[in-house]
Amino acid sequence: MSNSKRPDTRIVHTGSNPKAQKGAVNPPVYRASTVLFPTVQAMKNAEKDKFDTTYYGVHGTPTTFALEEAMTDLEGGYRAVSTSSGLAAISTALISFLKAGDHLLMTDSAYGPTRNFCNTMLKRFGVETTYYDPMIGAGIVELIKPETKVIFTESPGSYTFEIQDIPAITEVARQNNIKVMMDNTWAAGYYFKPFEHGVDISIQATTKYQAGHADLVLGHIIANNEKDWRKLKVNTSTLGQAVSPDVCYLGLRGLRTLSVRLEQHQETALTLAKWLSERPEVDTILHPAFPSCPGHEIWQRDFTGASGLFSVILKDFSETQVSAMLDGMDYFAMGYSWGGFESLIVASDPAKIRSATKWQAAGPLLRLHVGQEDVEDLIADLERGFDRLNGRA
Ligand SMILES: Cc1ncc(COP(=O)(O)O)c(C=O)c1O
Repeated sequence: MSNSKRPDTRIVHTGSNPKAQKGAVNPPVYRASTVLFPTVQAMKNAEKDKFDTTYYGVHGTPTTFALEEAMTDLEGGYRAVSTSSGLAAISTALISFLKAGDHLLMTDSAYGPTRNFCNTMLKRFGVETTYYDPMIGAGIVELIKPETKVIFTESPGSYTFEIQDIPAITEVARQNNIKVMMDNTWAAGYYFKPFEHGVDISIQATTKYQAGHADLVLGHIIANNEKDWRKLKVNTSTLGQAVSPDVCYLGLRGLRTLSVRLEQHQETALTLAKWLSERPEVDTILHPAFPSCPGHEIWQRDFTGASGLFSVILKDFSETQVSAMLDGMDYFAMGYSWGGFESLIVASDPAKIRSATKWQAAGPLLRLHVGQEDVEDLIADLERGFDRLNGRA
């Protein structure tokens, strides 16, 4: 644990207690289902605070707690809960604060599987979801009903990168006694501090930048006060959500280098986005640091940086042309997820899932995750890709 207020120092020292681990720098992997108690009384005592001590493997081991301490340190807030994936963090947070008859306001720019959870399971359990325009800001007040219990935000939006006016939304929510949740995965808890902007519950797909190596699936829900944290912990445990200590160990190991990796992702992505903005094939850059991105001025006001994920809208090219471009890439590989050390590219059509807003674009959308490769190699890869797009290769 570090007393420093500087994030880079905290990330290095948080969740670390070498004295308690015979001097080892990293907390070891505690593999445990069973935790033993010496007496009946000790067992009874442990039950009373089973979420605060090592009690049973499902509730976590010292490896889990070390990572949760680090995630709390990263995001701010009171305390974190680990979940088996980023999506599980989203679904568990929603389930914890909603019941039959309640109403949820969900951004139209949400990660697709978040929408799927609302449209299937939440609906089946009697929760109504209304999708709203991500750029709505304080206008969200018009959509609030007496039954509205949660406003869910994700900023920037998945694939389409709208930056939401989180302070305006949280102000309205506070006046109406509504919880605000935020999927803060893009900023990795590093470039945006949700609790400083009124968010109640922050969510990380730890799978992405904290893990950082495309080799594990993990999520965190971070609460801003003890009451909310207990609610999340009780519900996580009721659902039987458990994360392997090996995965938690790797998550914490990845987190240690988060700030240097992010800075590199940021720098290379900005160079690439600038290069792309000058290409004749590109219509619009959807990178929060570019004025063409909806909500760019909000990003300038509220964020301290940008990670390595952004989109471009191409001019009117056909699906066949885009496939020719993507099929031959050397470094930009195709695959889901992002946040690892390697560059990725995927084509997507946001129009298919939108319901509150109409997606209108000049042409196809490509989402790029810019990895740690040399920027010149990435530019050359895209240049060859554009030749294929134009039928020149
Ligand atoms: C913005 C966002 N949130 C949440 C998730 C879900 O994370 P996971 O893949 O760990 O379930 C993703 C995954 O791509 C994502 O892009």
